[in-house]
Amino acid sequence: MKILGIETSCDDTAMAILEVQSKKRKVKSGEKIKVLSSIVSSQVKLHAKYGGIVPSLAAREHTKNIGHVFDLALEEADVKNFNKEIDAIAVTRGPGLGPSLLVGITFAKTLSWIFKKPLIGVNHLEGHIYSNWLEPVGVSSKFKVKSEKLFPILNLIVSGGHTELALMKNYGKYEIIGETLDDAVGEAFDKTARLLGLGYPGGPAIAARAAKFKVESSKLKVVFPRPMEHSNDFNFSYSGLKTAVLYLLRDLKAEGGTITDDIVNEIAHEFQEAATDVLVKKTMKAAEKYKVKSLFLSGGVSANSLLRLNLNRATAEAGVKYFQPPMEYTTDNAAMIAVAGYFNYLKNKKIRTAYDAVEMDANLGF
Ligand code: KG4
Ligand code: ZN
Repeated sequence: MKILGIETSCDDTAMAILEVQSKKRKVKSGEKIKVLSSIVSSQVKLHAKYGGIVPSLAAREHTKNIGHVFDLALEEADVKNFNKEIDAIAVTRGPGLGPSLLVGITFAKTLSWIFKKPLIGVNHLEGHIYSNWLEPVGVSSKFKVKSEKLFPILNLIVSGGHTELALMKNYGKYEIIGETLDDAVGEAFDKTARLLGLGYPGGPAIAARAAKFKVESSKLKVVFPRPMEHSNDFNFSYSGLKTAVLYLLRDLKAEGGTITDDIVNEIAHEFQEAATDVLVKKTMKAAEKYKVKSLFLSGGVSANSLLRLNLNRATAEAGVKYFQPPMEYTTDNAAMIAVAGYFNYLKNKKIRTAYDAVEMDANLGF
């Protein structure tokens, strides 16, 4: 079967076609999943000048781009006849920006209604989790559905809007065991980048400057706090880390110093160390407590090389299987929505051809 995935929860207009080697609505051992196309139309340049996403602008851009993205997704997957070749539609129903979500959901409902196709509403975070099931376009997934002994899985979902530790005992069964009490880790990267004058999105900019830092040219020898590192729960806090950067810059300026490139590199480096350190330590503590078999990393911040490297090392030492999504599925995309939609479709026998099956849910957790 072939599934169309649609994602418009934030500032990316994305559509993808996923192929599953099965005609039946049953999980069979040995089934393979393949992404046939994955199109992402980014609005980064538009929002960059505002230092963050402007919801009404994002919705307007989705409306402008969605038809073109749809055509491209079908063309690249070589789908010539939508009605004959596409079996179901999966769309992000939340969480996300209300005006942005409405564009994708309305487009999906219209298609579902015209072509009488099943419509599956997908939680955006569940989409991120399932990005781990994917391989680059045209390559079959390494997982044979249901053939791997992966559960229980610990999910570390790190993005611009979320920092969650979700225990997954089986397909569709989640328990949030930890989350941020204030800013999300991606948000901290973005806000700190803005303080350093590095632009938006901040994650890649900070990582690039951190890579330029050389210990021998260290001027500040600064050590940022590792917030909640030793707390007895699995929660996180990132607003203090951003404030530590703010105060440091304020003090440096008050002392009459200039913020040179070397200083920016050093702050970016130490910020990245502090932000990822807490993530790795708390995740591994949770992995031990819940005796998980696997760890899945996902969300935009999962593109961070330091985080990938350190989780890889820590899981190898602890004997936990470690998975991270291919780079193209770390930030928002529709292939992850299509694959999460597929697993939901298998689970929920009630999903039928229905144009009112999906409610927008901007605030729903799991
Ligand atoms: O998942 P995503 O595309 O959108 C949300 O659902 O929020 O995540 C975007 C976030 C942004 O905060 C961005 O700065 C961060 O992911 N990000 C990174 C990196 N690449 C993207 N953070 C750290 N290091 C990176 N290399
Ligand atoms: Zn996301």
